[in-house]
Amino acid sequence: MLSSDTLSGQDPAVHTGWYLLAFDEELTEDVTPLHVGDRALVAVRRDGRVGVYDAICPHRGANLGYGGTVARAGVICPFHGKAIHLGEREGRRYCVREYPALQLGGVLFARLSDTSEDDRGFTEAMRKLAETHVVVAGFSLPIKVDGDLVVENAFDIDHFTALHKVPKVLKMTLEQGAEGELSMQGVFVSRSSGWSQGDAGDRVLRTGFHARAFSPTLVASELSLGDDAHVIITGTTPTSEGCIARVAYGLVPDPEDGTAPAELLKSLITNSKLAFEQDRTVWEHMDVTATPRFDARDESLAAFREFTTKFPALNR
Ligand code: FES
Ligand SMILES: [Fe+2]
Repeated sequence: MLSSDTLSGQDPAVHTGWYLLAFDEELTEDVTPLHVGDRALVAVRRDGRVGVYDAICPHRGANLGYGGTVARAGVICPFHGKAIHLGEREGRRYCVREYPALQLGGVLFARLSDTSEDDRGFTEAMRKLAETHVVVAGFSLPIKVDGDLVVENAFDIDHFTALHKVPKVLKMTLEQGAEGELSMQGVFVSRSSGWSQGDAGDRVLRTGFHARAFSPTLVASELSLGDDAHVIITGTTPTSEGCIARVAYGLVPDPEDGTAPAELLKSLITNSKLAFEQDRTVWEHMDVTATPRFDARDESLAAFREFTTKFPALNR
């Protein structure tokens, strides 16, 4: 939810739903602490997969992310050496809650909830994406606003033209996705290939745009030009100062070696960073407590804000 939490300097409460939690390069150890707002989580690499769990040891509250070690039974707590089981089960005294996690090409997602209702079609969307694309980490950066505001941006139609200088945005259609995700699609019209690879001369380009928000802090935006379609996945995690934004990409792999095309990735990162800098100047200076006066052009923004209210605070 959009709020003034970030103004208080407190770790903000975490809402339910999917998060882009970390890139592989951040998971340097088998046991890595993760901070998501006021929640202490831990990523544990075991048997070739990474799981996401509450980090606080049920014995006396030590954070397993700092000094915990992987063992057969789970994680050995650094404080008193008890074996803490990964995943809750009736009758288990020492265990921590597991969250559904998805690791795709070096990008770690987790759904911070117990109910599959919060999935919103994300698992299936990523499964489908992985059939045709490779998912790769892009970059991350701290931003001094609530993460919802960063994700909301994908539904702010007029800012594409005014701030990012996309010459024209054709009618955007907003719809509730079949799985409860929020979806908006339309067309960007331009004369250069600012959103894509290569030089397109002065042809008029019509780039399809399809944004799907799966939670208040996770949006996948597909940009398609001819046969080339790539997906920009933007996720934010809350911090006491605002959020960390992470951007990953779903790219059609190089047919030769099956990896992400390096040049395309480089140009997408450059373009995304530029757009973030344009947005950041606005975000970090705006008054987030001002009551907006939405007009007809802001229907999708209002819909996004309504969407965010469906993700309550995560239970302890
Ligand atoms: S606090 Fe973890 S074993 Fe005591
Ligand atoms: Fe933007």
